[in-house]
Amino acid sequence: MKVAIITGASQGLGLATAGALAGLGWAVAIDGRREDVLRRAAALLPAGQVAAIPGDVTDPGHRTRLAEAARRLGTVELLMNNASELGPSPMPSLASYPPGELAAVYAVNVLAPVALTQLVIGDLTATGGTVINISSDAAAEAYAGWGGYGPSKAALDHVSAILAAEHPELRVYAFDPGDMRTEMHQRAFPGEDISDRPEPAVAVPAIERLLRERPPSGRYRAADLLVGVPR
Ligand SMILES: NC(=O)c1ccc[n+]([C@@H]2O[C@H](COP(=O)([O-])OP(=O)(O)OC[C@H]3O[C@@H](n4cnc5c(N)ncnc54)[C@H](OP(=O)(O)O)[C@@H]3O)[C@@H](O)[C@H]2O)c1
Repeated sequence: MKVAIITGASQGLGLATAGALAGLGWAVAIDGRREDVLRRAAALLPAGQVAAIPGDVTDPGHRTRLAEAARRLGTVELLMNNASELGPSPMPSLASYPPGELAAVYAVNVLAPVALTQLVIGDLTATGGTVINISSDAAAEAYAGWGGYGPSKAALDHVSAILAAEHPELRVYAFDPGDMRTEMHQRAFPGEDISDRPEPAVAVPAIERLLRERPPSGRYRAADLLVGVPR
């Protein structure tokens, strides 16, 4: 069975993607730090097609357990680095950003995806697999107050581009899903009504399109990929 490792899949975009891929016959190895939330998410997915490993992507032991659980399910063909850290909420300006908090943002958003990629690169190259690194418009636009998260996603975009250059046999995508009504988005806009933002499921057909059509490695926006896709 084809296996996708999807980090941060106990809710939000990760869970929506895991559900969609399971429906397409993939097995999914998923994680998240809150064990109860992860267990509830796993219960929504088809038994026999899911391994739910609680833990933090910055923990090397956890990453190893996640990769091993994925291999027990079948052949690892997709790594989706989706788990992400916004930083403090409300988000501080760069001038007052606590260095320790900044390091924590980069640890989750840049260093952990690279380390997890290193763990499964052999699995992925064996099948000409896919890496999807979840990016953001904040990687490309300089929004005041986004000085931790935004540059970390820009670094993840560049990581994706270099991985693609080093591994032409893979597809490596930096993927901007657009605004989504999630816990992270609410933390970015504390106290604001975000009910006008779409549910994360809206972005999933764009991910399915990347996997189905396998366009060249690069940076893609859901808004562009969804043009012409039946909803
Ligand atoms: N929402 C938006 O508008 C938006 C826009 C652009 C890009 N994005 C990106 O889309 C992706 C998904 O975000 P989302 O909005 O769906 O967020 P979300 O609903 O808040 O979900 C985040 C998921 O990641 C897990 N997670 C967070 N830190 C983790 C860690 N250190 N180790 C393991 N799991 C961790 C969370 O579970 P625990 O907290 O229990 O660990 C949760 O399952 C992220 O990469 C985000 O940057 C979101």
